[in-house]
Amino acid sequence: MSIRPTGPDNAMAAKRLISVDDLTDADIDYILDLTEHYAGYLRRSDPAPKRLAGKTQVNLFFEDSTRTNLSFELAGKKLGADVINVPVAASSVHKGESQVDTAKTMAAMAADVMVVRAKEDALHYKLDDILPCAVVNGGAGKKEHPTQALLDAAAIRSEFGSLNGLVIAICGDIRHSRVAGSDARLFKRLGADVRFVGPAHLMPDSDQFTDVPRADSLKDGLDGADIAMGLRVQFERFPSDDDAGSMAARFDEDQRRDYFETFGLSHQTIKLAKPGARIMHPGPMNRGVEIDGALADDKELSLILRQVFYGVPTRMACLDALLTRGE
Ligand code: CP
Repeated sequence: MSIRPTGPDNAMAAKRLISVDDLTDADIDYILDLTEHYAGYLRRSDPAPKRLAGKTQVNLFFEDSTRTNLSFELAGKKLGADVINVPVAASSVHKGESQVDTAKTMAAMAADVMVVRAKEDALHYKLDDILPCAVVNGGAGKKEHPTQALLDAAAIRSEFGSLNGLVIAICGDIRHSRVAGSDARLFKRLGADVRFVGPAHLMPDSDQFTDVPRADSLKDGLDGADIAMGLRVQFERFPSDDDAGSMAARFDEDQRRDYFETFGLSHQTIKLAKPGARIMHPGPMNRGVEIDGALADDKELSLILRQVFYGVPTRMACLDALLTRGE
């Protein structure tokens, strides 16, 4: 029995998922449709078909993660894969083994897919060159988090039906956000009108994302927006990873309050957007810095837990599409 709802020959063209740019438009539609298909299983609490039985999935996270790591684990298990979470802190990485050697070691255990999170932007491409298995980006550096963008798109589709024509304001620390880049590229391909909103020092360099308009106030940036996507202020990336602790310390209570007063998303500031505009955030959140807790928890306006829900079926769809290749 075919479980695939739609798709070009029911197969995905991409053989890896490092960037949203790896995906054709047909791949994107296929993954989003397959996501909704798997979301149905989760909503009904039905067991999903064990389409990855016999496959081995390795989750190799060199950076902390709750949502991505655990939803990839759940996704693989629901599809019947053998899933290994590499305990990096207790692994030979701790003895000085390189990230590449650790990945090669895990691949040698007959991994079919490796989901990798790394601080560097380039590691995934290096691994894709040398590993025999499919490489999936579970978040890289400051540039890419493609499965987050796909799950965000799936959550938006579930609320609005389509992204086409929606005005989506991505707000806050865009400069350090891997989600902002992947979201902006994917949402534009799906027909949304995307804009960046935040202070100048947290915007990308001026030669990047030249096709995304920028606003330096919520008043301008939220005007006409259907969705405000808040982003975590990434203190640990200010201004370089070496200086993380001291920069976080320098962003003191007064500065957090100032930031919230200027760029914080709240029931008050969301009124600057379209009536009924929805709020999103990829998590983890700094409550009281980029978003007010009451808005984040607003059951009518907030799609934040919907995003978390869609993490599982989206990753089921990505793993299925990459590993079964239309079989
Ligand atoms: N959104 C996201 O990537 O969250 P985690 O860091 O918890 O995986």
